Amino acid sequence: MKIFLDTANIAEIKKGLAYGIIDGVTTNPSLIAKEQQEFIPLIKEITATIPGPVSVEVTASQPEEMIAQAERYAAIAANVVIKVPINLEGLQVVKVLAGRGVKTNVTLIFSPSQALLAAKAGATYVSPFVGRIDDISGDGMALVEDIALIYDNYDIATEIIVASVRHPLHFVQAARIGADVATIPFATLAQLLNHPLTASGMERFLKDWHKVKS
Ligand code: G3P
Repeated sequence: MKIFLDTANIAEIKKGLAYGIIDGVTTNPSLIAKEQQEFIPLIKEITATIPGPVSVEVTASQPEEMIAQAERYAAIAANVVIKVPINLEGLQVVKVLAGRGVKTNVTLIFSPSQALLAAKAGATYVSPFVGRIDDISGDGMALVEDIALIYDNYDIATEIIVASVRHPLHFVQAARIGADVATIPFATLAQLLNHPLTASGMERFLKDWHKVKS
């Protein structure tokens, strides 16, 4: 499973890269706003920092404007992936961009039918938001299972990015299902390694090591 960082923070991306486990980055308007920086220079810096795919979201609502934004963002770097919301306008945009060889990540996916239509329009990735479904007492991972099954039924090449990840269990469940990608916040990345037996084991080894004559 590929791991993307769900962040627009350069320091977090650099740290993730140094750990050797980060394959790409996903951003959204909220994550960009958090950085309080100019948008285009920030995207330039992110795409120059990480060689893998970097999702950048369009914010216009009409297809022509969305396509114009997408073209502008795609021109920033070869690793830009255009994030498009799932609706009828979004589908048109995905079709046009796919025809022009621009990669897309269809976002705000909350149902299997949305994921199937996004794939038919030519999406490179779809992003089901598992945490936001769990937040309203739904089952986010059941959606991922459904999408994986449907894509498998029809040999669909669109990749599933498990997004809105809230905790390590989402990550493990995504891997069990065989999702192509999990995009995770930096805080969750550190949590993935936490285990009390690892911590106490290291403590015990260190204590015993101090008893060894050198
Ligand atoms: O990048 C989109 C997604 O991961 C958002 O997550 O935590 O705002 O639901 P969240």
